[in-house]
Amino acid sequence: MAQFIIPFTLSLLTTLSLTSPATGTFWKSANTSPFNLGAEKLSHFQFYWHDIQSGSNPTSISIVKPPPTISSSTGFGTVNMIDDLLTERPENKSRILGRAQGFYGLSSQEELGLLMVMNFVFITGRYNGSTLTVLGRNPVMQKVREMPVIGGTGLFRFARGYVQASTYSLNMQTGDAVIKYHVYVLHY
Ligand SMILES: *[C@@H]1O[C@H](CO)[C@@H](O)[C@H](O)[C@H]1NC(C)=O
Ligand SMILES: *[C@@H]1O[C@H](CO)[C@@H](O)[C@H](O)[C@H]1NC(C)=O
Repeated sequence: MAQFIIPFTLSLLTTLSLTSPATGTFWKSANTSPFNLGAEKLSHFQFYWHDIQSGSNPTSISIVKPPPTISSSTGFGTVNMIDDLLTERPENKSRILGRAQGFYGLSSQEELGLLMVMNFVFITGRYNGSTLTVLGRNPVMQKVREMPVIGGTGLFRFARGYVQASTYSLNMQTGDAVIKYHVYVLHY
């Protein structure tokens, strides 16, 4: 594999460096002024994330099960697709701020550990329509789990930061969980 990738990458780099300055058709240095880039600011958001697996309208559904021949006490290999509500308060009737769309997979053989890949899509206030992307490791039994914010769209263009997630409530029978999220994000 490596033998293939390295020459391929090298040939790609050589091709790019040979062709881009000469033709200039697909790359140029962009002017920052239309982006209205002022000083970078730090925003802090706080909301509750509702992962509902029970009932007739679950927002978190199992889409991949591990092979039946593999028995793992940590659910290693399971994947859920989510469209979870983000609310202002922990109650599910509380004001909806947005949704968390994406998936998480159980990616640890030793503990309950998730790989989380999700977009926070805000639907209220000035951030309506803007998104933040979180991709990280979530060892769910730990009190506070930190994951990176790796980017964003709309008012969150060029965003970077991190989230801290902590469990507010968990129903062991149904798997339904309410998680408190603090989000710290640098953006323009
Ligand atoms: C909302 O929360 C209440 C109280 O915890 C619960 O009985 C109800 O099933 C929840 N509704 C939904 C749609 O999850
Ligand atoms: C959010 O944006 C959508 C699409 O532009 C719009 O339909 C909706 O009314 C907006 N919601 C709020 C609360 O501003």
